[in-house]
Amino acid sequence: MTITRSVVLGCGSYLPSQVLTNEDLARKVDTSDEWIVQRTGIHERRIAAPGELTSHMALHAAKSALAHARVDAQSIDLIVLATSTPDNTFPASAVSVQADLGITHGAAFDLQAVCSGFVYALATADGLLKSGAYKRALVIGSETFSRILDWTDRTTCVLFGDGAGAVVMEAQQQPGTRDDRGLLTVHLRSDGRFKSKLYVDGGPSSTGTVGYLRMEGREVFRHAVAMITDVVEDAFRATGYAAADVDWFIPHQANKRIIDGSAHKLGIAPDKIVTTVDRHGNTSAASIPLALSDAVTDRRIKRGDLLLLEAMGGGFTWGAALLRW
Ligand code: UT7
Repeated sequence: MTITRSVVLGCGSYLPSQVLTNEDLARKVDTSDEWIVQRTGIHERRIAAPGELTSHMALHAAKSALAHARVDAQSIDLIVLATSTPDNTFPASAVSVQADLGITHGAAFDLQAVCSGFVYALATADGLLKSGAYKRALVIGSETFSRILDWTDRTTCVLFGDGAGAVVMEAQQQPGTRDDRGLLTVHLRSDGRFKSKLYVDGGPSSTGTVGYLRMEGREVFRHAVAMITDVVEDAFRATGYAAADVDWFIPHQANKRIIDGSAHKLGIAPDKIVTTVDRHGNTSAASIPLALSDAVTDRRIKRGDLLLLEAMGGGFTWGAALLRW
């Protein structure tokens, strides 16, 4: 007997060309390269050009994922775009991507789970593919956090960057063992009691404005490692895999200290961690597919490798997935 699995056919990413270094930031707010590097591991991040929107970056990432997967856009019947920085309140930025790809069939929608958005989007697409209703999906994370940052607040503006990443996932019949290719397990969590620890102080139904990102960084940090390791343990329990089986750990890229602390607590060797936070900063829902693309492009990740993905962010939301490449 076989079962349906969501198998990744290819991935891609996009970064805006403008680089913003720590030195650039130190000229705007009371900060230093030394503080940012020591506390976060970030050296630089990318900033979207004026007029460059979340959907534009998502489109670039989608096209590169389609090319990598060697499939035609017309074969896509589902687009799930994870973002907290859509072009407009509505319609979904995903429908812009759909239209720009020339797709007029199937469904496209945005999903908002802040930094955990990509893991939530993977789980959502996986469910829809497994239902049999859709065959081939684009799962995208794209963010322009530079547009919701308070550039006078040094506690937040140094942390984030813009970018997009995408994967093409297809429903395939697999033997139904843990050696299958594709998404083996995915686990989502949230706890709204923490909603005021990381939020945007505006919105359509509250202020009628977009608002700015606000964060109690120390509080987020305090919970991050425990929440991440907890949900990863769920993924291990569900599959029978353990840290030693993981070939590549592809975490959400918020802070190098959180990444290293989580890997250490889980028992994952440092040379298995894919890190991009030094060059990208925190790109929220885009960070995992950006990191994934990096490690696929430079051929670290090979077919058959077991990948562990995890994220934690505003809400709080958090989640983890095990994926065989
Ligand atoms: O994507 C998911 C969600 N986000 C995260 O996962 C972020 C989680 N939090 C963090 O990564 C860290 O808490 C931060 C990087 C945000 C901050 O690091 P920290 O070690 O927790 O520092 P802190 O907030 O405790 O601040 C230490 C000091 C403070 O000064 P005092 O009160 O000790 O005098 C801050 O005012 O550093 C000061 N500070 C800065 N100094 C220079 C805060 N931001 C800056 C800055 N430059 N940019």
